[in-house]
Amino acid sequence: MNYFCTMNAFSDTIIEWYAENKRDLPWRNTKDPYLIWVSEIILQQTRVSQGYGYFLRFVERFPDVQTLADAPEDEVLKYWQGLGYYSRARNLHAAARGMRGKFPNTYEGVRALKGVGEYTAAAICSIAYDLPYAVVDGNVYRVLSRYWGIDLPIDSTQGKKTFAAMAQELLDVSRPSLYNQAIMDFGAIQCTPQTPDCLFCPLAQSCQAFSQGKVAQLPVKQHKVRTVDRYFHYIYVRAGAYTYLHKRTGNDIWKNLFELPLVEADHALAEEELLASPLLHSWLAGNGSFTLGLRRRQVKHVLSHRIIYADFYELILPEDTVSFGEFLRIPIAERGRYAVPRLIQAFWEREDV
Ligand code: ADE
Repeated sequence: MNYFCTMNAFSDTIIEWYAENKRDLPWRNTKDPYLIWVSEIILQQTRVSQGYGYFLRFVERFPDVQTLADAPEDEVLKYWQGLGYYSRARNLHAAARGMRGKFPNTYEGVRALKGVGEYTAAAICSIAYDLPYAVVDGNVYRVLSRYWGIDLPIDSTQGKKTFAAMAQELLDVSRPSLYNQAIMDFGAIQCTPQTPDCLFCPLAQSCQAFSQGKVAQLPVKQHKVRTVDRYFHYIYVRAGAYTYLHKRTGNDIWKNLFELPLVEADHALAEEELLASPLLHSWLAGNGSFTLGLRRRQVKHVLSHRIIYADFYELILPEDTVSFGEFLRIPIAERGRYAVPRLIQAFWEREDV
């Protein structure tokens, strides 16, 4: 069968499906825009299953705009540790500081918040205020491109425009909150990227991709993500009960997170090459004896645009060492207080160092 439903029938079917299949999530029992904002920022790059616990811990510690604004950034990052895309946490915090205790209540006001793009503004305004803005996220691109059989690349200007206009037309303006959440869940649960459940899909009869056998080909993307390889050599210093960290600065990954002393190179260094590194020598200057040993080799850490290959070394210094380069000297027992990338947290946990 190869007929389209009307736009209303499409929206109604999605909403009916949602009534049966809705996920019960903690940010769905509230209209508090602050809580919805936090949930949407977490869910920007994170699956619901992973974000769930982070959301609960975050809003327990920072239950409202003012509490978040009053907290130090290091603590906010600590609550984000392991989630990745840390600019989300820095922006959330900066935006809260700019709010003077009150969450904006217009689309323009919400859209102007740091870290809030069109998608997130539409999600917050529709869910919290029932304003008629259609969300267009990865789930929505997938559902629309398949159902209507559209092979315009979703990362092209024309594709973005077309899908945004369609989404806006399909929006059930009498219930934007319900419809937007319904289509996102439909994409996340029913019309999934790899193995969509077409056999039990209420829209299969009128789905273009299904009837043409093109489900696996849609949506189309024109650009593949290019990744860059980076080679990190981390030095876990042990000087008695102390180790050394530093805060990453500059415009790079993990800004404002803490990490171990790092030697980065354009290839994976052999142990002798690392030992000859001028940077390592500059840190060791003034220190007497030391022992360097490799603890873990070529830990592969995949980020959205980068693949990091990390080697971890342990550097034993005399117990009475009081400095190592410009690094921050901290008691090993207190290292858990610092927000570090998951790569380092995993090293500490797995190696039991
Ligand atoms: N992904 C991002 N935001 C979402 C929401 N509100 N519901 C379901 N999935 C989502």
